[in-house]
Amino acid sequence: MSKSSNALARTAYLAAAHTPQQLPADDGREVVFAGRSNAGKSSALNTICNQNALARTSKTPGRTQQLVFFEVVKGKYLVDLPGYGYAKVSKDLRAHWQGFLNDYFRTRIALCGIVVVMDIRHPLREFDLDMLRFAADRGLPAHCLLTKCDKIGRGPQAQTLLAVRKQLPERATAQVFSSETKQGVDEARAVVAGWLEV
Ligand code: GTP
Ligand code: MG
Repeated sequence: MSKSSNALARTAYLAAAHTPQQLPADDGREVVFAGRSNAGKSSALNTICNQNALARTSKTPGRTQQLVFFEVVKGKYLVDLPGYGYAKVSKDLRAHWQGFLNDYFRTRIALCGIVVVMDIRHPLREFDLDMLRFAADRGLPAHCLLTKCDKIGRGPQAQTLLAVRKQLPERATAQVFSSETKQGVDEARAVVAGWLEV
């Protein structure tokens, strides 16, 4: 195993935040996993850390309901976000989330990169594009994981990857990925470890 895989494999749960006051100090480096509900964010985080049950996953969309912080090494975090587009939460809760997440994304200094997790069968939906534009505006790198690639053949995987890459803003990259088969995991680890400098 490489040095960065070793560091990622030692990632441990740190804290969950439902309000800005609960966020860890904004003085480290952190990479967020963003994406639609049920896209496979928590699964991708686990796969990249080579751990089965670090972030909680579920068949039911809306599993992750807070900003969940995992510490790779001191001051270096991976953050599992609630899915966007999850319909079954109350209006008030959705407004709370939107406000909290908007502020977080606009002001968080530690944020050093965004992993945009998309089901390879439904890439670049509206919120994904918003997230990519936001990253470009803030000058942050974004890396798209076209996940659940085990659901389609190699030909369609390559076609989708090509089509997605053509639509990406500057500084954004993309790859195919699967938490089921671990396809693409080395590439994803290298990106995340590079951003975190671990
Ligand atoms: P929320 O927290 O609800 O927003 O969802 P999430 O984006 O964190 O998704 P999660 O990782 O919980 O995965 C959702 C479902 O997709 C689970 O049933 C996973 O087992 C499944 N899943 C995730 N990644 C893959 C993958 O690469 N391949 C396949 N076949 N299934 C996957
Ligand atoms: Mg989740």
